Amino acid sequence: MEIFLDTANIEEIRKGVDWGIVDGVTTNPTLVSKENAIFEERIKEICEVVQGPVSAEVVSTKYEGMVKEAEALAKLSEFVVVKIPLIPDGIKAIKTLSKKGIQTNATLVFSPLQALLAAKAGATYVSPFIGRMDDIGNTGMTIVGEIMEIFDNYGYNTKVIVASVRHPQHVLEAGLIGAHVVTMPFDVLEKMFKHPMTDIGLERFLQDWKKYQDYMANKK
Ligand code: G3P
Repeated sequence: MEIFLDTANIEEIRKGVDWGIVDGVTTNPTLVSKENAIFEERIKEICEVVQGPVSAEVVSTKYEGMVKEAEALAKLSEFVVVKIPLIPDGIKAIKTLSKKGIQTNATLVFSPLQALLAAKAGATYVSPFIGRMDDIGNTGMTIVGEIMEIFDNYGYNTKVIVASVRHPQHVLEAGLIGAHVVTMPFDVLEKMFKHPMTDIGLERFLQDWKKYQDYMANKK
């Protein structure tokens, strides 16, 4: 599984990359707006730190505007993946951008049929928003399995990014389905490390080692 961080916070990204387990980053206008940073500069900075796919979203809702924004974003770094909303103009833009060799991430995906359209247009990634579906009483993860099955049936290379992840259980379920990528907030990544038995076990090992050292020291 590829692990992406769903944040525009550079400190969180540096920490995750330093652990050696972060393959990429996804951002969106909401995440960038929290950072009080200049958008283009922040995207460049993230690309330099991650050295892997970094999604940056267009804000235009019309084909021409999306393509123009995407071309400018793609010039920021070879690692930029342009996030495009799953609307008809977006699908048209994805098709054009894929022909130009610009990587894309179809975002705001809430159904397997939307994902199919993105794959058909040549999207590099497709991002089903799992948590937001759970929020309205659906089981978001169901569509991840369906998307994977459809892509497998037709041999589409589009990678599935499980997005809008809220807790480690989402990551577990995505892993069991075999989703290519999970993008998660930093706190979810931190929670994945945690197990009380690890802490208790480590404390016991260190105490026993201390006892052993004391014993050896007294023996001399
Ligand atoms: O980056 C897109 C997605 O992960 C947003 O998540 O938590 O705002 O639903 P959320």
